[in-house]
Amino acid sequence: MSEPSAQPRPSLRVALRGDILHFLGDPGWGEDGGDAVQFEPDGWLLVEDGRILGVRAADAPPDASWVREDWRGHLVLPGFIDPHVHAPQLDVIASFGAPLLDWLARYTFAAEARYADPEQCRLGAERFLRASLSHGTTAAVVFATVHRNSSEALFSVAQRLGMRLVTGKVLMDRNCPEELRDDATQAERDCVDSIERWHGVDRLAYAVTPRFAATSSPAQLAMAGGLLKAYERCAGGLYMQSHLAENRDEVQWIAELFPQSRSYLDVYARAGLLTSRSILAHGIWVDDTDRALLSQTGTSIAFSPSSNLFLGSGLFDWARARAAGVQVVPASDVGGGTSLCQLRTLADGYKVLALQGQSMPAWAALHAATRGAARSLELDHEIGHFGAGTMADVVVWRWADGAVQQRRQDMARSLHERLFAWMTLADERNVAAVYVRGCKIPTDELWPEADVHAQSHAYGDLGPADCSSL
Ligand code: GUN
Ligand code: ZN
Repeated sequence: MSEPSAQPRPSLRVALRGDILHFLGDPGWGEDGGDAVQFEPDGWLLVEDGRILGVRAADAPPDASWVREDWRGHLVLPGFIDPHVHAPQLDVIASFGAPLLDWLARYTFAAEARYADPEQCRLGAERFLRASLSHGTTAAVVFATVHRNSSEALFSVAQRLGMRLVTGKVLMDRNCPEELRDDATQAERDCVDSIERWHGVDRLAYAVTPRFAATSSPAQLAMAGGLLKAYERCAGGLYMQSHLAENRDEVQWIAELFPQSRSYLDVYARAGLLTSRSILAHGIWVDDTDRALLSQTGTSIAFSPSSNLFLGSGLFDWARARAAGVQVVPASDVGGGTSLCQLRTLADGYKVLALQGQSMPAWAALHAATRGAARSLELDHEIGHFGAGTMADVVVWRWADGAVQQRRQDMARSLHERLFAWMTLADERNVAAVYVRGCKIPTDELWPEADVHAQSHAYGDLGPADCSSL
């Protein structure tokens, strides 16, 4: 008996109507973003089969074959990208009274140890990714824990949600509690298994993840560098994520552990860990030689102002990094950082720079959290803007939540003033809708309090534009 021939599915065409904003290029650091800013008030964002088809002005509406979603009076932006965040640390966000090394010992390691339980990994991954979406972040580079199950769970939940995710198991074979310690040989096996299974599959990529130089032996760092080399031609290469020069006591400790290295950054350089797909969080206590090396290797710094303020780590000098040609991307660094919402990151970033006599226009900030981040991650063909063919990861925001924000919006005299006030005052409570690959995620299910088991069935396996199971 012959099988019935598969009918081509009619394409799913959705037009979102609202105040559409994205970047066509780098707007620079002025109040006038120039041609790099595309703002279409009451415009149309056309999405076909989960991908962006284009942006149209208000006077060029699509024909009646398009399903229309009316977000008039709302701001429609590409989903934010968070280039550095720790999934398991949602459990210790906002923990009292400790600078970095004490904070790790007192709160963080204990929280991460719970992920020895695979069920905890699954629940934690579900909770974290849904929380990220509900805060307006649709793509992220994420630290799991040392347990292989923790990164496996993040990959499989992200795959089911259709999200862009870069993650990997943490490497940590010394200077940490026994129950969180791996060894270079087993860790390499675990990494290779996960790389083979996930790297380049759907919207997923593997990040080799030595926690920081203090918790990996030279042998483990060399193993990590070897993985980057071995897979450099596989799906664009692996990512590498770690921490760099966050806190002065930490920098001193690294100098004692690696006396032969010129600097903290040099430890990673010697292990072959600096590539155009490397992301190092913080980079506060570096010098111009380090900045030149960061620039030369294309390594990005994840500027984490909320975390740097909360842990009292120091003030990142973005102007100096920019002058040296270093790529900088704003990051939440939860749970050192105190919010998953990238608007809070940007608002804190502005204040950190203000303390150093620097300024950050809304255009530079919003670009850095969208298209700029995508470019740093070599993902600007897929995310971060509304260019034709990119994935429709879109967040619809309320311009104002409450009377104070509304009054400020009403008083704004220019688009930049409006956006800057919005960026500074708004947060996740302003999120009105989240789309991943063109599928609207039901916001009432974003935070499954009671029963993650039941909720997770709702998503099923998604084809590129098949939102029916949402
Ligand atoms: N350095 C090493 N581990 C961590 C971590 O989990 N958070 C931060 N902020 N810094 C680190
Ligand atoms: Zn971190």
